[in-house]
Amino acid sequence: MKFFIDSANINDINEAKNMGLLDGVTTNPTLVSRENIKGADNVYDHYKSICDIVENKDVSVEVISTDFKSIISEGEMLYDIHSNIVLKIPIIQEGLEAINYFSNKGIKTNCTLVFSLGQAILAAKSGATYVSVFMGRLDDISINSLSLLKDIRTVYDNFNFKSKILAASIRNPFHIIECAKIGVDIITSPLDPIKKLLYYPMTDIGIDKFLSDYDTYK
Ligand code: G3P
Repeated sequence: MKFFIDSANINDINEAKNMGLLDGVTTNPTLVSRENIKGADNVYDHYKSICDIVENKDVSVEVISTDFKSIISEGEMLYDIHSNIVLKIPIIQEGLEAINYFSNKGIKTNCTLVFSLGQAILAAKSGATYVSVFMGRLDDISINSLSLLKDIRTVYDNFNFKSKILAASIRNPFHIIECAKIGVDIITSPLDPIKKLLYYPMTDIGIDKFLSDYDTYK
């Protein structure tokens, strides 16, 4: 299972890279807004900086446009930033048209804001490279995101769809573990839920014991 970092923060991305956990990055307008960057030129420079850090791995950046022609022109400008740029496009009709267009040109896409099996099927058939299923936002309204991911996994395997299931809107380490059990291709998460996978009290107790016992013979 690949780990993408769901962040536009350079420090978070570097921290994940240093742990060997950086298989890619996903961003969105909300994440970019947290970095206090103003103006398209500066945002594009920031995307370039992220691409330089992740080297040859995918970086998803989201289009703002919602009509086909504008998505295409905006997407082409974004793709010109770096060849690792993946165009993040919402699951709307003109978004599907754009995903199909870019897919036919060999440009990777990430179909985002997916909340249903129907949407996931359409995204795969349109040729999306990644399909971002928003777990946390579904759980937030008492809809079982794990059940949806299991259904998507089943349908994608039934028909050998090439799109990769990308579990997004991760809120906690439980989401990550359950995605691994389901066979989700990729999770994209802020750094905190990933780092929380590290924690187990018996490990800390064990280290303390080893160190105190070491002190008896060093
Ligand atoms: O980036 C897409 C998704 O991960 C956003 O998550 O926390 O805003 O629901 P969140």
